Amino acid sequence: MGEKILLATQNPGKLREFKALLSDLGEALLSPREVGIRLEVEESGQTYRENAVLKARAFAAASGLMALADDSGLEVDALGGAPGVRSARFAPQPGATDADRRAYLLQRLQGRPQPWRARFRCWIALATPEGALYFGEGTCEGQIIPEERGQGGFGYDPIFLLEERGVTMAELTAEEKNRLSHRALAVEAIRPVLRRLLRGEPSAG
Ligand code: IMP
Repeated sequence: MGEKILLATQNPGKLREFKALLSDLGEALLSPREVGIRLEVEESGQTYRENAVLKARAFAAASGLMALADDSGLEVDALGGAPGVRSARFAPQPGATDADRRAYLLQRLQGRPQPWRARFRCWIALATPEGALYFGEGTCEGQIIPEERGQGGFGYDPIFLLEERGVTMAELTAEEKNRLSHRALAVEAIRPVLRRLLRGEPSAG
């Protein structure tokens, strides 16, 4: 069996995007479901990078495979950079949905002067079962708008406007989002390392 890379996420939106972004890796790419692993890793780190490492290491240890994790989030200047690393948990009520988190974010922004400058950030960590780590990072600038637009993507996409294009992230096709998103840029940064590792060559990172 050749080298494989396990996608260390249970988030369906992220899984879909990674599968498309890394489609050139073909059968080398596996989802947790395909290897019969289900893990909820506590994101106890203070930074995206730390949380990406926690997830990648946990999945690599559980599977014996190389594991690729992302930790990502939305930073809104008017909220001092919140929700940031807490983006997935940003809502007061337990069991909150993506829609609840968008509504809560807009509630927090009410009364603050627009434009609400913001950016998505993504850190990718790849962990090998032997303990090596590699990284990629990407950022995508935009602004939060008060009304949802578009059906694509996931998370905060319907309220994240890409000013130059005049559309929200959720109004892009999957292909368009995958050309410019924070996750796409982070994947481009780490792609050469993935290629080398899949060829069985050591990588300097
Ligand atoms: P985590 O990386 O699992 O901690 O979760 C990141 C959270 O940030 C997601 O649950 C979304 O709420 C948000 N997020 C990350 N990437 C995106 C994106 O591409 N679009 C919209 N929201 C995102």
